[in-house]
Amino acid sequence: MPELMIEGRAVTVAEGTSVLAALQNAGYRTLRHSRSGEPRGALCGMGSCHECRAVVDGRIVRTCVTPARNGQRVTLLTGDHAD
Ligand code: FES
Repeated sequence: MPELMIEGRAVTVAEGTSVLAALQNAGYRTLRHSRSGEPRGALCGMGSCHECRAVVDGRIVRTCVTPARNGQRVTLLTGDHAD
């Protein structure tokens, strides 16, 4: 089973889990905040809305279409990239 680091915390998920599901299983519903400070999170769950973006191994990805893999490092978007 893949073990990844989410915000520095080790999380183990079932094979075939998306990074979004791993985030949600770990309790993350708000993935970032809009410029006006509103909480934002996954909306479509199928790669269309881009609301689920986060950083995986240094790249901004849509977490709902990104498979969780062993050793990944996932961090939430902050600052200018969070809009
Ligand atoms: S939830 Fe819409 S692109 Fe991921």
